[in-house]
Amino acid sequence: MANIFPRWTNLLPLKIAVCAGTAAGGAALALAYYATPKAQVVGYQPAQPIPFSHKIHVDQLGLDCRYCHSFVDVAGHSNVPGNNTCWNCHQHVQRESPKLQPLRDRMDATLKHPDFGKPIEWVRVHKAPDYVYFNHSAHVNRGISCQSCHGDVDQMEVVYQAESHSMGWCLECHRAPENHLRPLEEVYNFNYDAETYISNNPQLGVKTTEELGLKLKEQFNVKPKEACATCHH
Ligand code: HEC
Ligand code: HEC
Ligand code: HEC
Ligand code: HEC
Ligand code: HEC
Repeated sequence: MANIFPRWTNLLPLKIAVCAGTAAGGAALALAYYATPKAQVVGYQPAQPIPFSHKIHVDQLGLDCRYCHSFVDVAGHSNVPGNNTCWNCHQHVQRESPKLQPLRDRMDATLKHPDFGKPIEWVRVHKAPDYVYFNHSAHVNRGISCQSCHGDVDQMEVVYQAESHSMGWCLECHRAPENHLRPLEEVYNFNYDAETYISNNPQLGVKTTEELGLKLKEQFNVKPKEACATCHH
């Protein structure tokens, strides 16, 4: 599966070390990189072993992201749920669905299937190169929504990569987080609309979405870093 994300990973830590050594070189490289935004994997949409629909489970059934991605706000890494999470419901619901046969084979001992007890092998969609350090909880607990980085997942029948996740893309937000910050209680709300929020909360004393962003930035004391070592240890 590693070859889905072909990258010249081996040489990169070296390149970064060399660049970091000479500040000017590093800045020049960063500038060159930033000037040519690569969007190499936007739209990547692999088929999954079970056709799991976020549209059904999030938009129609109203499940919160954290019901399944339960570590996203407490850890750097966001987990994908194990079979038990699905089985909690699907041992009762949609019991005859052919789409769920791989789940039943793994969870229902009476079927005596050779895959019993094995995890479902979901195909990974988003993958930062190994030389990049990323942390989920550091973002979602500071008012950055999943939606800013993963797009309208609540409407996706099949997950695809909606944003480039290039270095330039990361830095664009680190330079101006006020364009993305939300009140913390709105981070998991995919129907969030800043203007509606402002008119429902006149006590905040802000009139425009720009003012709201700047106010939250000050309130959370958010200062995203741009130094190389932030994302390249
Ligand atoms: C009922 C469980 C469930 C809920 C609720 C859920 N997800 Fe997922 N999510 C999954 C499963 C299973 C996968 C792996 C299969 C796939 O990619 O469709 C996944 C995959 C993903 C991926 C792609 C992971 C990768 O490989 O890069 C993202 C991003 C994601 N979910 C975001 C969200 C967001 C945002 C929400 C809330 C709006 C959410 N999910 C709600 C179960 C869930
Ligand atoms: C909270 C309960 C709940 C959880 C948890 C849940 N589902 Fe579902 N799922 C449902 C319901 C209810 C439906 C039927 C929705 C409908 O018919 O509109 C459904 C529908 C489906 C379908 C479509 C079945 C068909 O034949 O159309 C699939 C596939 C599916 N779920 C997979 C999963 C997987 C995989 C997981 C775990 C990652 C999961 N579900 C977790 C409640 C749940
Ligand atoms: C600031 C941008 C950002 C935000 C906010 C964000 N993600 Fe991610 N997400 C990423 C990046 C980058 C990756 C790839 C990380 C890696 O490979 O280490 C990723 C990967 C994932 C994965 C795949 C992990 C795996 O190992 O399969 C899931 C699932 C996921 N995100 C879910 C979520 C959910 C749910 C939320 C909101 C609660 C969220 N993300 C918020 C940027 C973000
Ligand atoms: C939509 C806005 C946004 C995007 C996109 C974004 N970040 Fe951030 N990032 C932030 C904010 C806000 C913080 C918190 C800053 C603070 O706490 O002062 C942060 C903090 C961080 C931190 C510090 C975490 C810690 O452990 O203290 C790292 C590392 C980081 N981001 C890496 C990345 C990488 C890598 C990407 C691209 C894959 C990325 N970010 C994309 C907004 C963003
Ligand atoms: C906010 C996070 C962040 C910061 C800060 C950051 N980078 Fe990156 N960098 C990334 C990400 C993410 C990638 C991988 C992009 C991709 O997969 O396309 C990357 C990729 C790279 C690459 C490989 C690019 C290529 O195409 O060969 C180099 C070299 C690099 N960074 C150097 C630097 C230097 C030097 C600095 C400091 C001036 C820096 N980075 C600061 C996130 C960051």
